Amino acid sequence: MRAIAQPNIALIKYWGKRDTGQNLPAVGSISITLCDLYTGMDVDFDDQLAEDQLIVNGDAGGSMLPRLSACLDRVAGEDRARARIVSESNFPIAAGLASSASAFAAATVAAAAAAGKDLDVAELASLAGRASGSAARSLLGGFVELRNCDSGIEVGNLRTAAEWPLTVVIAITETGPKAVGSTEAMEISRKTSPFYSSWVEQQEHDLAAARSAIEKRDFGQLAAIAEHNCLKMHSIMWASRPPMVYWNAATMRCLQIVRKLQGAGIGVFFTIDAGPQVKAVCLPEHAEQVRSTLSSSDDVAAVMTSELGDAARLVESS
Ligand code: DP6
Repeated sequence: MRAIAQPNIALIKYWGKRDTGQNLPAVGSISITLCDLYTGMDVDFDDQLAEDQLIVNGDAGGSMLPRLSACLDRVAGEDRARARIVSESNFPIAAGLASSASAFAAATVAAAAAAGKDLDVAELASLAGRASGSAARSLLGGFVELRNCDSGIEVGNLRTAAEWPLTVVIAITETGPKAVGSTEAMEISRKTSPFYSSWVEQQEHDLAAARSAIEKRDFGQLAAIAEHNCLKMHSIMWASRPPMVYWNAATMRCLQIVRKLQGAGIGVFFTIDAGPQVKAVCLPEHAEQVRSTLSSSDDVAAVMTSELGDAARLVESS
């Protein structure tokens, strides 16, 4: 069975867990699902296999296998047959481009179908979220909110991609894998950052501001709260022990470019995840100018552009 899921970019970030065993987030989050970047995941159970096999972008092995195997166990049961898993992404993986979100969303959808389970979005979200918190958001398209609830998490759609088309320009400033993964970095932040508890306390306020901006399609309001929330998350990391600084000099230069464009009346704002890449969210009519300005910066290695996209889905096996 093959499923496709697109990465999502959080505008109000998930950073920190309330339960590491169940992988439950400490805070809710709001994201946009992309369209042009994707992970395609084939999952096929086979009684003849002695162990799970994983091919990632044509290469055997891959450090994701233990997490994928655990994800398949939760979806199909621990007594399942071993699986042949083939994953292909059209963008750099493990470099702060939310590759785990699209990978685990696609794996959950494909594994459920391969196991003959007809699960609803709530069940899929809870399973995908156990594998990677942000993956639950890639199950839906457009503007997505992930909320904490008594039973764990729930995801809901705030607006579809067609209702508020925005474009995301991603400036790749470094292509290698990141030094510390989000899972570990979040725990370091929770345990050591002096700002962590205020982050958790203020998140409801930021979520409400973003929700209302999305409801009104108020780009300026969304820009202000998203940049604030992003910088606040990075401040927590910077103040952790050991400190975690994902930015490089080019990351900073991209922020300066975005500020300059904003000063010239261009509809754009930035957000940055646990990596050095800068995501510039823009009004579609300004996307070309944002793209060409960011790509003309010498230290930007590559630029990718994406519209907003749809939910994770099953597709015909190739
Ligand atoms: C900075 O979803 O990768 O991208 O649940 O431990 O797998 P785990 O973490 P993950 O963290 C994402 C962190 C972030 C912010 C976000 O996407 O909300």
